[in-house]
Amino acid sequence: MPSPTPAPPVTSRGKPVEAPDRDGDRIAGLFDRAAATYDRVGIDLLPTAGRLLVAHARVDEGEHVLDAGCGTGASLFPAARAVGPRGSVTGIDLAPAMVERVRQQSAEHRLPWLRTYVADVEDPHRAALHAPAGGFDVVTAGMLVSFLRRPDRAFRRFRSVLRPGGRLALSWWGPEAPGWGRVVEATRPFGPGTREEIETAVPGQSPPLTPELVRRLADEAGFASVELYEERLEATFRDTGHWWTWTWSTAARAFWESVPPDRLPAARAAAESALAALRAPDGTLPYVLTANFAVCRR
Ligand SMILES: C[S@@+](CC[C@H](N)C(=O)[O-])C[C@H]1O[C@@H](n2cnc3c(N)ncnc32)[C@H](O)[C@@H]1O
Repeated sequence: MPSPTPAPPVTSRGKPVEAPDRDGDRIAGLFDRAAATYDRVGIDLLPTAGRLLVAHARVDEGEHVLDAGCGTGASLFPAARAVGPRGSVTGIDLAPAMVERVRQQSAEHRLPWLRTYVADVEDPHRAALHAPAGGFDVVTAGMLVSFLRRPDRAFRRFRSVLRPGGRLALSWWGPEAPGWGRVVEATRPFGPGTREEIETAVPGQSPPLTPELVRRLADEAGFASVELYEERLEATFRDTGHWWTWTWSTAARAFWESVPPDRLPAARAAAESALAALRAPDGTLPYVLTANFAVCRR
């Protein structure tokens, strides 16, 4: 998710490519705990971003797609529908509970050309990418790259499993609408203090992706071209309680989990007081977020 509202921004300035080493188990644990509610709280941001990613990648009938960090399938299912039974889609994710949700849904929708694996896309020793002979036509990586320890290596690895002319399509969250930053500021004092403490407590916050960094990663990995797109996504929270449920359903829960339990009610109250200024006359909370997309051609 966006480092959506409550997670304080963490940067690794000076080290934009190599993020601090993080334990994959912590990231898997985070998404395993989020899996029950992830993308199930009536906010359509992730499915919309997933559909847009597949559209920007121009996934076509009969193609073979790898979805890296597939989560609960925001781009995996649109890709499966786009390729049809003559193609294939392979989803890989670190978090078993996320993959289990994909498996249940895939069985319900009868999609035998969709397969999933619990695996680390950064682990070079796993033959888990299961590239077809000649390579994948498309690798999608929706809202994944900021969780990777070595995005530079991941870009090279993704390129290596693509056929010549194949596409790597990735997405990342950009800024929220003005005003939402106040929620971050209001909650920051309740979380870990120093940058080191935050980086230990809150995985997936750095390096902050930018179009420039994505271009550089793509160039250095040997991609021939990069197309960039920016989309404005909207959602509406019914009230602050809805927002609270949503924020716990996303990766932002890492921030809330880092707040000492006895301080959590005060942290929530501080967030809700900042949210009051964002309320529409009917009491709802309109939310706007930028989603960025890049399509890198091998
Ligand atoms: C923010 S979610 C995005 C999920 C999905 N692509 C979407 O757009 O909704 C990031 C996902 O990447 C997975 N992930 C993070 N690091 C990973 C890694 N090294 N290998 C495989 N999956 C990873 C997480 O478990 C999580 O499901």
